[in-house]
Amino acid sequence: MTENNGQHFSWARVIVVLLHFNSLPIMSVVPYKDKNEGKKQQVAEMFNNISPKYDFLNHLLSLGIDIQWRKKAVKLLKKDQPKLILDIATGTGDFAIEALALKPEKIIGVDISEGMLAEGKKKMKKKKLEHIIDLQLGDSEKLLFEDNKFDAVIVSFGVRNFENLEKGLSDMYRVLKPGGKTVIVEFSKPRAFPMKQLYNFYFTYILPQIGKVVSKDTSAYTYLPESVQVFPDGKDFLSVLEKVGFKQTVCKPLTFGISSIYVGVK
Ligand SMILES: C[S@@+](CC[C@H](N)C(=O)[O-])C[C@H]1O[C@@H](n2cnc3c(N)ncnc32)[C@H](O)[C@@H]1O
Repeated sequence: MTENNGQHFSWARVIVVLLHFNSLPIMSVVPYKDKNEGKKQQVAEMFNNISPKYDFLNHLLSLGIDIQWRKKAVKLLKKDQPKLILDIATGTGDFAIEALALKPEKIIGVDISEGMLAEGKKKMKKKKLEHIIDLQLGDSEKLLFEDNKFDAVIVSFGVRNFENLEKGLSDMYRVLKPGGKTVIVEFSKPRAFPMKQLYNFYFTYILPQIGKVVSKDTSAYTYLPESVQVFPDGKDFLSVLEKVGFKQTVCKPLTFGISSIYVGVK
């Protein structure tokens, strides 16, 4: 056994965690367990904290694969040719930028984190995209848009952070035009050996350490694997989509099931 920053590392513990990783109880996981605020407030605070390093860490920790995942998701909207797109939980706007490949007239991105939006706005200014991508403060569970407004509603790595998943998905459904499509990208859990074990090891031991050192937030990259473990994926997520009204739902696993794309039609 070795000691590292006061934390004991033991292979026995690694094995126990790996064996039990997929049996964590379904409960609301929050970033800062010692704080009393609700999940939404904590999530906004966490993303405000990590926003200056978010893009760098995202691409580093996923080895750039996240960019390919968003591109694949956008392709699923190609034949729909949506003119007005809403990007929920837009963060620094990467999914909105990928969605420009669809040649829309306008993309509105909403997020509850002012820090993430500030980084996103800098990026839009630098890329001269402010006229087409409009980033706004907004809560996916209480969208300030009228019913049936958008041709498509997209979300990447956002739904897992909602305080109330059904409420967030219901409001996305409400603002989507009848016949419009939602495309959602989210982490899921690989189930086959050895990818499941490798992924669990990476997510439990490597990613939180790198995330902590670079972002200086001690909880954000522990919250990430914990929130993935308790989040419904695959058929379970499709059931929630169907429950709030989406039809023709489809799940497309990406990269051994590390992430999945979910599609639903109003
Ligand atoms: C992991 S980031 C994803 C950002 C971006 N979509 C991407 O692919 O890089 C998750 C984002 O969800 C936002 N978020 C969480 N709950 C939200 C809510 N209820 N409404 C709007 N945004 C929310 C967070 O503030 C954060 O910016």
